[in-house]
Amino acid sequence: MPMKSLRYGFRFALLVAAVAFVSQVFAETFAPRATGYSGQLGQGIGLFLPDDLPLDRLPPSLALVSRPAPTGPLAAGWRVAPAFSFGEKQVRATVAVPEGTSLYGTGEVAAPLLRNGVNVTLWNTDNFGYKSHEGRRLYQSHPWVLAVRPDGTAFGVLADTTWRTELVLDGKIEFTSDGPSFPLIIVDRESPQAVMHALGELTGTMALPPKWALGYQQSRWSYNPDARVREVADEFRRRRLPCDVIWMDIDYMDGFRVFTFNPKEFPDPKGLNAYLHERGFKSVWMIDPGVKADPGYAVYDTGTAADVWVRDAFGATFHGPVWPGDCVFPDFTRPETRAWWSALYKDFMAQGIDGVWNDMNEPAVFNSEPRKTMPVHNWHRGGGDLPAGPHARYHNVYGLLMVRATREGILAANPDKRPFVLTRASYLGGQRYAATWTGDNYSTWDHLRLAIPMTLNLGLSGQPFNGPDLGGFGKAPTADLWAHWVAMGTLFPFARGHAQKSEPQKEPWAFGPEVENVARVALERRYRLLPYLYTLFHASSLDGQPIMRPAFFADPRDPALRTEDRVFLLGDDLLVVPKWAEKPNLPRGLWRTVSLVGENSTTDKYQPDLKLRGGAIVPLGRVIQSTAEESLAPLTLLVSLDAQGRASGQLYEDAGEGFAYREGDFLLTTYEAVQKDGAVTVSVARSEGHRARPARPVVVQLVTDAGTVTAEGTDGQPVTVRLPSP
Ligand code: NOJ
Repeated sequence: MPMKSLRYGFRFALLVAAVAFVSQVFAETFAPRATGYSGQLGQGIGLFLPDDLPLDRLPPSLALVSRPAPTGPLAAGWRVAPAFSFGEKQVRATVAVPEGTSLYGTGEVAAPLLRNGVNVTLWNTDNFGYKSHEGRRLYQSHPWVLAVRPDGTAFGVLADTTWRTELVLDGKIEFTSDGPSFPLIIVDRESPQAVMHALGELTGTMALPPKWALGYQQSRWSYNPDARVREVADEFRRRRLPCDVIWMDIDYMDGFRVFTFNPKEFPDPKGLNAYLHERGFKSVWMIDPGVKADPGYAVYDTGTAADVWVRDAFGATFHGPVWPGDCVFPDFTRPETRAWWSALYKDFMAQGIDGVWNDMNEPAVFNSEPRKTMPVHNWHRGGGDLPAGPHARYHNVYGLLMVRATREGILAANPDKRPFVLTRASYLGGQRYAATWTGDNYSTWDHLRLAIPMTLNLGLSGQPFNGPDLGGFGKAPTADLWAHWVAMGTLFPFARGHAQKSEPQKEPWAFGPEVENVARVALERRYRLLPYLYTLFHASSLDGQPIMRPAFFADPRDPALRTEDRVFLLGDDLLVVPKWAEKPNLPRGLWRTVSLVGENSTTDKYQPDLKLRGGAIVPLGRVIQSTAEESLAPLTLLVSLDAQGRASGQLYEDAGEGFAYREGDFLLTTYEAVQKDGAVTVSVARSEGHRARPARPVVVQLVTDAGTVTAEGTDGQPVTVRLPSP
């Protein structure tokens, strides 16, 4: 290396060190600022603003569904309030945390369930294998903390800022943002569930997905050419492994140009989708934000003509490399861009595509280490509600704005269908537009265990519809590890097997007949549970509760459950206990083990134990190969009585697709079981909705400590189970 460049290198290093030192000093000098405004937003919800942020000048929020409209001063005796302080360039809000309080939420972080002591950088980052920043900076940002006090009451803290923010949770909850002053919203209610309900009121809830999206899904980077897609689909049916969806990763495109199809490998996407549909599959196809800068390519040309691209700091179109090489990026802060982007889906969906996968939308930009994204001083022009601003302001919501436009586009293309979008990048409130997965994990024991607390905390951050790449994306698992993955992963809200290009095949049959059988039982269990899962999805779309819940939801006062992140709940009634969890902390009370699929699932070494809560009725379907089949013939009601000899549970049904349910075309049945003398009678306690009850047989399975007793009848009529004499 010539002397001159060495000298420059040395000077540059000195400069970097000086900047680092100075910012360290700045980071430490924060001056207190008064709270300028505080007021009540709703029951147990308070709004707090620093003194330089007047109520009538709140910035537009992308997290909240509506502009905060306080109803008056804080309720008398309000107990949780922030302290604001300002540094040279940063704004900080600090909330004291009472001794013994457990912290959760904080979005997508590769860390245990309990987030006390876990500091997070809220800055959406493409982080393969969660390798960089110790996994404390991943694809999504959720400036939200759920705090559960020792007595089981809870509060939540929401920092309404999209700017890069450091979240510190060491004995306090502290948001330090690179942006201007921001509102802080604090929820204080009687339980973690009640706080989650408030988060749903504030940031919105997931829209009810189409039923097929709850089925098992098979992906790989990539199944190509189209013959391989057909082969994979056929293999599922031939081997009688239930599956609903096959995914198309980037290689279906023509040179990675979004909204195109490779003419050699995917010459007839419509035909391929028809093939899948005829066999009861749906298809989801990937679309990334990076558009190849390629004159003559329609998406690039129309985007350029409509002037939709993000600009650099000097006002020129920003270019950066992603899969197709040199790319430009839609500026989703502009309403015109969103309308243009939405319209692109019309022809795309007309190919018979059922769902859309938006990936790389942090946005990921290659060759820009260590940033791996676009420069923070790139310029977004905004419009409508959103002011113009630098990428630093809009980085964390780039993915959210993208999937908002995607959702609108696919809804406009198919107005009678519920949109299904999967996104990698997201932000608090993103559940309104898309489901999500936890990015590029590994096929390792560590990441298998980590998948549980990651999914739980995303649920506790308002995103119920999420899950990991089942089986792990990177690295090659042993057959034994993959068997554990499938047995557990099929019980997650989003259940999709996926694998990296360079890794061996990871389909359920790829590990030999023994593991294929494990997968079959695991998949059959999921499909039997679908009526219960769909009922939970429907409830969550109304009340914002997670679908997969931490064990402590069963008893928020039990300190032993606060750190339990191997065991989890599906809804309130089913406890999932992985076989590999040593000495798990289980909630107190009656929890009876159920099998669902033969005796296999209780005895084999892979399937987690499933425990039914005493007092619960869980609806089950029969084993089907996809949701295209009728599942509730017969309907099975799995009943476990409480100490008083009673139980209840719900079943939600609708067309599984479309929006007629919003006009009352649904049936929500509350079943009740009552024990009297030596018999238990199960009957319909309440029905809601206009949908007629189908004439169908019902099987009641009463799970007792001495075994299961069964009786058959007709749904809608009381069914009585005689208890064996003691
Ligand atoms: C990155 C995504 O995280 C991964 O799931 C996908 O397979 C690749 N991009 C290729 O599209």
